[in-house]
Amino acid sequence: MSDSGVTTLEHLLAAKEIAITCGSGGVGKTSVAAALGTMAATHLGGRVLVLTVDPARRLASALGLEAVGNLETQVPAEAFATVGARPRGELWVAMLDTKQSWDDLVRHHAPDVRTRDAILANPLYTNITAKFVQSHDYIAMERLFEIHASGRYDLLVVDTPPTRNALDFLDAPARMAEFFSSRLLRWLTVPYRSRFVTVASKPFYTVADRILGTKFLEDIAEFFSLFQTMERGFVARAKEVTRVLGDRRTTFAVITTLEASPLHEAEFFMEALKARKLQLGALVLNKVLPAYLRDEEATEAAEVLRAANVELGVELAPLVAAPEPRVAGVLAEVASSFANFRVVAQREAEQRAELAVAPEVTVAVPYLDEDIHDLAGLLRLGERLWR
Ligand SMILES: Nc1ncnc2c1ncn2[C@@H]1O[C@H](COP(=O)(O)OP(=O)(O)O)[C@@H](O)[C@H]1O
Ligand SMILES: [Mg+2]
Repeated sequence: MSDSGVTTLEHLLAAKEIAITCGSGGVGKTSVAAALGTMAATHLGGRVLVLTVDPARRLASALGLEAVGNLETQVPAEAFATVGARPRGELWVAMLDTKQSWDDLVRHHAPDVRTRDAILANPLYTNITAKFVQSHDYIAMERLFEIHASGRYDLLVVDTPPTRNALDFLDAPARMAEFFSSRLLRWLTVPYRSRFVTVASKPFYTVADRILGTKFLEDIAEFFSLFQTMERGFVARAKEVTRVLGDRRTTFAVITTLEASPLHEAEFFMEALKARKLQLGALVLNKVLPAYLRDEEATEAAEVLRAANVELGVELAPLVAAPEPRVAGVLAEVASSFANFRVVAQREAEQRAELAVAPEVTVAVPYLDEDIHDLAGLLRLGERLWR
């Protein structure tokens, strides 16, 4: 048990307003975020929003997430009824529409209508907001902040974009603030600010002009000059977002499998959370092998199957209506596969024991037989996570 007495994800989430899932791509972040939201809405009650980034198409449509845009949609109570669940609260889902979120942000921070329209119409604006990965990170944080501040929900479960480096996501608000005071920004806006490009920078602009064209340089300069007018709003906002991340009502859940590369990244990320004094609420070890593979009796049973496969084949052959040698062969194969899986399960257990960072809650979830693509699947996964 941890210092705070939290032992399960149920306890952890009962005390939080924001839970952020993070980890490498493909480990189950989106599934876990959606499953936790579903469980919270079902068992804790209140209004729960799952803010997701890249749900698989089938899962998205099962949750009614077909519409594009930032629309928040409620999963209807009937959907729960068909899988035999009666939620105490409401489950809402929303996707992150990067472009729309940026537009909203510009509308919010632009000092006047003319600047706003000029930014929105600037050809570079669309490119930058749509193509820069960092802009996704920043906007995801921003949207999270906006929804939290609205007070519309009791709990927000946030899925994170598949970043190359999870830290980009954490640092996005601070980086945005830094950008406004950076030399890079000053440099980019020079041609706009002054007709007299300084002697020192002239060669650069001459070359750039030849390669990129005057129009392009002007667009860049214009865009960043306009962007600069929003500095106050952005910087203040970035600070608030950073504060919310560090609040005690915010927690992080690191999701990983026990494969080397995601596990390595998860450890790195947990260290980073600690260094930033952010709360590491949970570590979810997903898609692990089931514990019975390490069970003594099961191991002995497999050993007996292997050693006595011929005799057992004779006894079982009539039952399965197959020739004795075939049955014996299958038994031997099953037993040796079991032994192999056991070795892997053993190694997984060792890897778990070696994890240096201790979150408040650690849960292991086995590899489920079926893909998680609907409410029933989320509840199945959720049950494994919850208690
Ligand atoms: N415990 C599990 N057992 C079986 N399949 C799982 C499990 N967790 C996730 N999956 C499947 O793995 C795939 C990737 O999951 P997803 O949540 O989209 O990962 P991420 O968001 O981290 O990229 C999906 O097809 C999902 O259904
Ligand atoms: Mg995902």
